[in-house]
Order: sequence, then structure tokens, then C-alpha cells
Amino acid sequence: MKKTNVTLKDVSAVYSGPEGVLWELIMGEQIHVGGFGSSMALAQKADIKEGQKVLDLCSALGAGLRFLVKNFKVQGFGLDGTEHMVNEAVRRTEQDGLKGSIEYKLGDVTAIPWAENNFDVVWGEDAWCYVVDKDKLISEAARVLKKGGTISFTDWVEGPKGLSDEDAERINTFMKFPYMESQKGYEALLKKHGLTLKVSDDLTSEFADYIQLYLDMVSKQLSFDALRIIGWDMNMMQAIGGEMAFMLQKAREGGFGRTRIVGVKE
Ligand SMILES: C[S@@+](CC[C@H](N)C(=O)[O-])C[C@H]1O[C@@H](n2cnc3c(N)ncnc32)[C@H](O)[C@@H]1O
Repeated sequence: MKKTNVTLKDVSAVYSGPEGVLWELIMGEQIHVGGFGSSMALAQKADIKEGQKVLDLCSALGAGLRFLVKNFKVQGFGLDGTEHMVNEAVRRTEQDGLKGSIEYKLGDVTAIPWAENNFDVVWGEDAWCYVVDKDKLISEAARVLKKGGTISFTDWVEGPKGLSDEDAERINTFMKFPYMESQKGYEALLKKHGLTLKVSDDLTSEFADYIQLYLDMVSKQLSFDALRIIGWDMNMMQAIGGEMAFMLQKAREGGFGRTRIVGVKE
């Protein structure tokens, strides 16, 4: 069975506590693989334009939206299920001089608190792997998109070579994922909800290089900082290193991957 019992409550606990801070330490404020470059590639593939209304589902610290407002002058809207992240997003948006240009709401992305036919773009970066009901998520994204609007996201997925139940459970348990979609699974969900696929990229090979980078940062450069975040718990540090090494191995084998998808509401 490739599903865990993880719920939004468990994920919110991660992003309200030390684990979330640890992810920020190794990834930066944009808590996704590839940071600025990945956002730029996604924005270009999605053909983001000035003035568009963009809804970021799982907006976390708001760094994805701040990137879009600063570089593409969009109107930003963010939805996240963790109160601490929403408060931080509001605070950091103000700190970056962008107060008033992004609206954040607290809520579950499977029940989007905005009206239908409202956004030019629904955006997501490496976060929908945390969502229990991805079918509902895509159906909600399709509902709030205007006709001709674009759904654009990257996500951590089961890679093209697939994972055994045991390996999937190990990664999902460590990462606090309810389950991982696959690239093909997302393509099918888009189709089911009336979205036409424009881009579907398999990023698994570069994903493995990034896991190596994170492993190196924790073990070779930021060990002291990481240890402080986890209360100087050396056993936990070793366990984290072991799980990251396992994920690296599975990514190199093509079983654990990342995808970039763009679809249009016809
Ligand atoms: C990895 S972070 C997202 C990173 C962000 N997209 C970025 O690029 O900086 C994951 C976020 O997803 C949020 N999240 C997970 N499941 C959610 C759900 N069902 N509804 C709303 N937010 C959710 C968490 O609260 C957390 O802030």
C-alpha cells in the first residue's frame, strides 16, 4: 500500500515546527527544488504575463508569489493550510515592500475559498505531494481558473521506474506525504477535469542532483545550524541523513522523481 495516514494536520505540524525550519535552512525561502531558476522555468513555460491574477496553492512563506510579483508584476493570491506559514508570508511580503500586492488566505487547497472562473493562473511548487485528495485539488484548481487559464506546477512524484510499496511507504513516512502522484497520474487528472496538457517534463535526473546537494549541505556545511534546529539531537541528525541517502538512491534509480506540468482550461 503506497498511502500513509498523513493528514493536513500532520503536515501543518511539520511546517509550524523544526522540520519546516530545517527545510528553509537547506532550500531557502522558496521551499522547492531549484529555487529562483525553477520558478523562472515554470513561469516561462506557463507564459506568465504582467497583470495576471495568480493563485499559489500551498503558498508557504509566499516566496513563490513574491518572485512572481517582483519579476512579472502579477496580482498575487496565496492559500496555505498552516497558520504559521500564512502569518510569515504576510510578514515577509511586507518586509519585501510588497504589502498590498498579495492576498493570503488560510485554508485547504481541496476547498479553495475563491469563486469560480477567477484566476488566469493556478500555481504550485513542490507542495501538492502533501495533499491527501489530489483529484479534488485539481478539480478545485480547474473550477477557479478562467477559461483559457493555466495550471502550472512542479511536484515530487513517484518516478518513471516506480517504487515498491515498501520504498514508497518509507519515503512518504519520512516526508509526511499521504501519497505521491506520478507524472502520468497528474496528466490523467488534468484530462479528467477538462484541462489540456501543454507541458509535461520529467525532472527526475536533476532532482537526484539536488537531493545530493541537500545531503551535502546538511552533512558538510550546515551541520551545526541543522543540529541547533533539531535540539542538538545527533541521533535524529543521523536518521535524517540516512533517509536522505535512501531518497537519493531511489531518485538515481528513477523511482522517486519530480515533474513540471502546465495545462490549460479550454
Ligand atoms: C514545501 S511547502 C510549499 C513551498 C512553496 N510552494 C514554495 O515554493 O516556497 C508545503 C506547504 O504546503 C502546505 N500544505 C500542505 N498541504 C496543504 C493543503 N491540503 N492545503 C493547504 N496547504 C497545504 C503546507 O502548509 C506548507 O506550507
